[in-house]
Amino acid sequence: MARRPLIAGNWKLHNGLEASVTLARAVVAGVDAGTRAEVVLAPVFTALSSVAAVVRGTGVGLAGQDVHWDDKGAFTGEVSAPLLADVGASHVIVGHSERRQFFGDDDARVRRKVEAALRGGLVPIACVGETLGEREAGKTLDVVLGQLDAIAKDLVGIERVVIAYEPVWAIGTGRVAKAEDAEDVHRAIRDRVRALAGDAIADGLRILYGGSVKGDNAAALLGQADIDGALVGGASLDAAQFLAIIRAA
Ligand code: 13P
Repeated sequence: MARRPLIAGNWKLHNGLEASVTLARAVVAGVDAGTRAEVVLAPVFTALSSVAAVVRGTGVGLAGQDVHWDDKGAFTGEVSAPLLADVGASHVIVGHSERRQFFGDDDARVRRKVEAALRGGLVPIACVGETLGEREAGKTLDVVLGQLDAIAKDLVGIERVVIAYEPVWAIGTGRVAKAEDAEDVHRAIRDRVRALAGDAIADGLRILYGGSVKGDNAAALLGQADIDGALVGGASLDAAQFLAIIRAA
């Protein structure tokens, strides 16, 4: 089945208003009717509104980098799914390894955030991935499928979820997973979703790879049968690099 590739740029904690708008304009200018991939940009919260104005009506989507699990309340410092939708976001990244590592986002919390995103009409880009120690201990699939179960088991709206496989050891390190190794994990993710939710949902599920994706390694990764796009960090901060990845899709 033909799944439309999704290329998402996670700008992390980079780029103020001016830099965000400049970068978004450059991406929009490089995406045209011949672009097959769906493209999504995830700026810092404070730049969402400005980037929304750039991408509106262009087909390029907008994502938050995180979301709170409740829609409103006494949660100082948090941003909710309805507020992301209100500013024009279509997607939200949930359970990124940096959130898991530095901000206490465990499986239970990630699940609640996925549900909040769906409730708010956003597409959650839900992240899974093993650390180097876990990979070396042969626990990659245990870890990844455990995280996936927490996200996907008995989830109403699972057909709208995007999964991102990001091996923690490949993030920001320049150490990209071999395309065949990544494909093995992607196939295992799809098989597990097939067991949880059936063929139609598994076949339609988009599974992104993330971790040191660049213009020159994107084609090999995206050429794999079960790799349906990329969640790009560092290379998404450079319009030419990011557009090269978009073209590879
Ligand atoms: P890099 O592309 O910088 O390795 O980051 C990957 C990532 O964490 C995207 O969410």
